[in-house]
Amino acid sequence: MANLTQIIVSAPGKLMLLGEHAVVYNRPSLVTAVDQRLTLKAETLENSVFELNAKDAGVTNYSKPLSELGKGDIPKGAKFVERAMYNFFARHPQSNRGSINNIDSRLRGNDIIGIRITTKSDFSPLFGFGSSSASTVCTLKALSELFNAKLSCRQIFELSFQTVLDVQGTGSGFDVAAATYGGTLYYSKAGSKTIKPLNLKHLPLIIGYSGIKADTVTLVKQVAEKAKKYPNVIENIYSQIGYLVDLAKKALLKEDYQTLGELMDLNQGLLVSLGVEGKKLADMIYAAREAGAYGAKLSGAGIGDCMIAIAPANKVSGVKKAITKAGGKVVNVKVNAPGVRIEK
Ligand code: PMV
Repeated sequence: MANLTQIIVSAPGKLMLLGEHAVVYNRPSLVTAVDQRLTLKAETLENSVFELNAKDAGVTNYSKPLSELGKGDIPKGAKFVERAMYNFFARHPQSNRGSINNIDSRLRGNDIIGIRITTKSDFSPLFGFGSSSASTVCTLKALSELFNAKLSCRQIFELSFQTVLDVQGTGSGFDVAAATYGGTLYYSKAGSKTIKPLNLKHLPLIIGYSGIKADTVTLVKQVAEKAKKYPNVIENIYSQIGYLVDLAKKALLKEDYQTLGELMDLNQGLLVSLGVEGKKLADMIYAAREAGAYGAKLSGAGIGDCMIAIAPANKVSGVKKAITKAGGKVVNVKVNAPGVRIEK
């Protein structure tokens, strides 16, 4: 029997510091967790149904029999939670009504009790802070607790990453790593994957939202097309981005923000070469630099979502004003926030 009937967990949003796009091709990246969180409540139900309320993702009163889990027309805002649940039950035969190992027969045979999930986010899904990855990680953490599966951070990360790949077919997993582990991470999916927490005391990052939605999957595909046409050039760009990440890691640990800023500018130049700059982001980035930032770059897939800047303390307010004047919205969040955790 499951011991718990309800649990509340939360996971942070994320921001890519350096390394986007190249990280998909096994180069390292630097990512940080933001202190705005997605909260998820999971409750067990007597009937074998899956219910989801995720207003921030545009899903209200979504309900289906567990036997239909992962099947049929799934609304966009339900895909990650539903797939995470399917993957959990497929791999972890804990349930309160027996333990048939085949997931489909277990779902058909009412072998698993029903689950109602409700999510609520501190941040707008428009920012690109990673509501899909945070809700995936929260779902797996909550199910692990409800069914006493004792998943480790690493297992939650691996199953969440698999879920993201199942749903969107592509991705480096950096967002899932940030939601799971929190803090600021040196992350690479190469080989057995590197997830190295960096011990930072603080990181005075300035974040500007462009008001434009970035379509990550489409942009990753666009860059892949470019790589098909110019394989050597693009592979070299990925490698250069990887070198910048290694240098930026050292600068971050030394709190050498001037060097970090220079490296951010260099990374931005390479992202421009990949074709993901975007006019609005470029305006905000130039505005930040002209107002005295050490450096600025886009964060994430590009074209839209957010840009980040780092500046000397006496220039921060001027940089924020310049970003606003360029048409951006300054998002006041702290970074280096804790990873997935139980709230109640
Ligand atoms: O758009 P975001 O914030 O999800 O970042 C995408 C970063 C990419 O490197 C382009 C894709 C990935 O999965 O790493």
